[in-house]
Amino acid sequence: MCGIIGYAGGESDDTVLERLLHGLSNLEYRGYDSAGIAVANAPLAVEKRQGELSELERALTDGGTDSDDWIGSDAVDGFDGPTGIGHTRWSTHGPPSDVNAHPHTSPNGSVAVVHNGIIENYCELREELSAAGYEFRSDTDTEVVPHLIDQERSAGVDRFAAFRAAIDRLEGSYAIAAVFPGCETIYVARHESPLVLGLGEDGNFLASDVPAFIEYTNQVVYLDDGEFAAVSPSSVTVSDESGAVVEKSIETIDWDPEDAGKSGYDHYMRKEITEQPRAIRDCLRGRIEELGGTVSLPELEGLESPSSVQFVACGTSYHAGLFGERLLQRRGIPAQTFVASEYDADELPVDEETLVVGVTQSGETADTMRALRGANRAGATTLALTNVVASSAARECDHVLYIRAGPEISVAATKSFASQQVTLSLLATALADTADPSSSASREHLRELRRLPDHIQSVLDDSNARSVAEAFLESDAYFFIGRGYNAPVALEGALKLKEITYRHAEGFPAGELKHGPLALVTEATPVFAIVSGREKTSATIGNVTEVQARGAPVVAVTDSPETVGSHADYVLEVPETHPAVMPIVANVQLQLVAYWLADALDRPIDKPRNLAKSVTVL
Ligand code: M6R
Repeated sequence: MCGIIGYAGGESDDTVLERLLHGLSNLEYRGYDSAGIAVANAPLAVEKRQGELSELERALTDGGTDSDDWIGSDAVDGFDGPTGIGHTRWSTHGPPSDVNAHPHTSPNGSVAVVHNGIIENYCELREELSAAGYEFRSDTDTEVVPHLIDQERSAGVDRFAAFRAAIDRLEGSYAIAAVFPGCETIYVARHESPLVLGLGEDGNFLASDVPAFIEYTNQVVYLDDGEFAAVSPSSVTVSDESGAVVEKSIETIDWDPEDAGKSGYDHYMRKEITEQPRAIRDCLRGRIEELGGTVSLPELEGLESPSSVQFVACGTSYHAGLFGERLLQRRGIPAQTFVASEYDADELPVDEETLVVGVTQSGETADTMRALRGANRAGATTLALTNVVASSAARECDHVLYIRAGPEISVAATKSFASQQVTLSLLATALADTADPSSSASREHLRELRRLPDHIQSVLDDSNARSVAEAFLESDAYFFIGRGYNAPVALEGALKLKEITYRHAEGFPAGELKHGPLALVTEATPVFAIVSGREKTSATIGNVTEVQARGAPVVAVTDSPETVGSHADYVLEVPETHPAVMPIVANVQLQLVAYWLADALDRPIDKPRNLAKSVTVL
């Protein structure tokens, strides 16, 4: 996710620049591909660069930017205004570049804007503004905002009213901050993207996340959706959509600055587990038309209906592929998943009617890239399903579908897996519609996808996974079973547990147990059974009784505790939902079990031994 910092300090010296750069460096942990700042000198002083923060700092000290000729300041001395904003960008629209970096400005430099989130109606707005004579320099959705503000300002509207009027035109999610030349107030707005204000003794802050300013103040005000704020060196005023002033409570943050990047959590993994509702909302944004039961994925424009689909992926992404395969097969589309390192397009039926989908969070995994390149050479159409804009997979495939999970720091994949499953659900619906125009997408499935963030939130709020994990601290091994849609999640539950606890764990399609693994089952091997109350229930319960007969304790992960509970020693409950949505929620319980077990065993959860976040060797 992108990071925002703003500081209204009032002094005309280097303090603003220093605090903005410090704030940006505190936000680096979120991941970014470019960074920039704007200081409210008159004219505005703006600098932005692709790459690390050091590139931005070098540009500031070397003097000026060559991409914006209206910018008056050409040395770091020019950045001494009273107030400023900064941004670290994680690309969502347009590849990482100097021009796509924030802040974005109106062509005449009347305003500079930083933005987190996704503006869904930016194409319409861009068209409208272009017709009105505005030139666009970047590929971003954000650039419509300064132009909208400028349009209002040109009509004589005052700064805050112009800002409000522009925000009023936006659909989607945003945390937005704007500065105007020579003005010491920063104007901000929030809708479905976090924004927090920091009340300091020598000035006030705003940021996407507390770590940006934690060294300067621990007194914070969290903005809610639909709220605006005017942040000046001496005051902070929050108002609602109608302009009425809102009294906000001031909270005191007691985190150690060192841990602040984890938002108060002990580990990035736990933080990323809790980010799943937000990640899924972002993933779904603008992609479902629920009433008509349709999915809109403009990224797939021009994609011919494939005769078959092959998924290539590794690790957790491979498990997502197995889930996608099941979704497609149920819609009558032949699909198969391959461990990428085993995939050889020359030995498989691959032709121009085959769609090969590389599922890869990083977009850089060497095994997956090799498989995709082989598929390309064999004439297949390729699609990258990835989290990283302009990654190798995104650049080299014919099509790309972003999962929009935001940066994932912990080596163990968590929120990216959920976002992959959701994106695959959309892809399957979109392909099924193309393959057979008479088949309408399952409305219930789409409705339950929409409700998924709430389902996951309820698990996060009420999970008993910690006590279940602590009940099995000394077990010999951990087994995971599930059928149908739940089988890939059984494999993923085992992978997560072994990866961060260093304990032996295996996952199986439930029916496979009796063909060998049952020999390992004892009273010292808990079995986690993922059981849907609506599909294959009695068959999976049959497998549960097989392991119980061998003395194994059973943990049922289920949306039907009344049916399944009596067959289990422990229940990890999830809300009742569609059978193709249930495993996404069930997996959150398994992530928490793995997390709490690793925590109790004092493992280095975010950086397990021998593992790397991105595996770029074959
Ligand atoms: O970036 P990718 O999705 O291509 O990575 C694939 C695997 O290396 C990755 O999913 C790995 O299995 C995870 N660390 C597991 O948590």
